[in-house]
Amino acid sequence: MTTLNTIILAAGQGSRMKSSLPKVLHKIAGKPMVQWVIDAASQLPANNAHVVIGHGADHLKEALSGQPLTFAVQAEQLGTGHAVAQAMPNIAEDSIALVLYGDVPLTKAETMARLVEIAEQGDFALLTVKLDDPTGYGRIVRDEQARVSAIVEHKDATADQLAITEVNTGILAVAASKLHEWLPQLSSDNAQGEYYLTDVIAMAASSGMTITTMQPDTEQEVQGINNRMQQAELERWFQQQQARSLMEQGVTLADPARLDVRGDLTVGTDVSIDINVVFKGKVVLGNNVTIEPNCVIEDSVIGDGCHIKANSVLEQAELAGDSDIGPFARLRPGSRLALGAKVGNFVETKKANIGAGSKVNHLSYVGDAEVGPGANIGAGTITCNYDGVNKFKTEIGAGAFIGSNSALVAPVKIGENATVGAGSTVSKNVNDAELAVSRARQTNIKGWQRPVDQKAAKDQ
Ligand code: UD1
Ligand code: MG
Repeated sequence: MTTLNTIILAAGQGSRMKSSLPKVLHKIAGKPMVQWVIDAASQLPANNAHVVIGHGADHLKEALSGQPLTFAVQAEQLGTGHAVAQAMPNIAEDSIALVLYGDVPLTKAETMARLVEIAEQGDFALLTVKLDDPTGYGRIVRDEQARVSAIVEHKDATADQLAITEVNTGILAVAASKLHEWLPQLSSDNAQGEYYLTDVIAMAASSGMTITTMQPDTEQEVQGINNRMQQAELERWFQQQQARSLMEQGVTLADPARLDVRGDLTVGTDVSIDINVVFKGKVVLGNNVTIEPNCVIEDSVIGDGCHIKANSVLEQAELAGDSDIGPFARLRPGSRLALGAKVGNFVETKKANIGAGSKVNHLSYVGDAEVGPGANIGAGTITCNYDGVNKFKTEIGAGAFIGSNSALVAPVKIGENATVGAGSTVSKNVNDAELAVSRARQTNIKGWQRPVDQKAAKDQ
């Protein structure tokens, strides 16, 4: 198999985004545009990825660090041909070069693979698309036999050429040896004074090479992003595709236009998702999971039969199954609920293992806690896990009952089937089956007289 080198162009400024962030780091479905391109390219066999950077180079290097990438710096943006030339010193003659754009996020790996296949057979592979409005794009010029003979940029085109609706997407694949040969021959003698990569097409054609064009399955696959409107449009299109795919998998969506998946969502059967739910990262929903409106669920596993009620926020939570959550619950990282555990309204959990069938139904904070099965944690219970410097653990045994408005000052252990009286501050361990009460005893005063209104009494 021939080695593949993908060259991802990402040196442009993207001034129309009006942003301090380099354009290619703006996101589609929660992921930077250039990362979409890198991820798709990484699915191709024997691939080495090269990213051409310029504007915001340091920012890009940092954002993309830790990945198997080679960076080529294009100090001045002198055109697409010049950009590709910057990567060429790192690219072997006997490989295939695939040129991609960092601001064209949704090109599919299959489309890339088809282009590479054409290049492997010795042709020049060019991805083109027919547009109702080709304004601004390079036009695909064909000869009498309909063979591609050149690409002419909009600004350099004649009136006849401007009428051509087949345009260059910019994405192409060809033997690297050819680019090594052609790129040094480019000139900037054109309307924009740039080194156009597209000029290599005419060179290829005149050398007798066959230029094979192919089209993407959808226009969106080659849609470049230049401004916030295009970004928002592509985002919506992509979300609709995902919603459609979820419905094909049997998910009920209250409104496919009001769902956002920013990552990977895996679903079981008979999942039902109400409006305005956002999924981030990797989320797994089991069978018969119901999600009510306005929930945000990130990097979590929701087991079979769980019911997430409205306005709940879950992050790195694991629910074994049959749990009811919310409304208005917040499960922070490390919240793990065993089968049938319940976390109700205005409850926050963090690094908490909550045993099977245990209930934390109202207005509580349970953090750094181990809760056994069958425990009942009353309204307004707080695990005081933090002394201002260190974090400590609270352990609550199976079947324990914590009365409302209790403060459990960690480190502390509440034994199995122990009871804490409402309103207690518990800072000492409680043994199994014991009752702990730490509130002041109630005193009732007989004959108590309410104060009288002294001013009113005097005026009488
Ligand atoms: C380019 C094509 C045009 C095609 C269009 C598709 C050329 C000469 N023209 O035009 O035929 O229809 O894309 O969108 O190739 N870049 C660099 N360094 C540079 C210049 C550009 O890295 O010096 C990067 C940009 O960041 C961008 C990409 O290359 O990601 C395309 O550049 P852009 O200026 O948008 O090219 P167009 O003029 O739109
Ligand atoms: Mg462009």
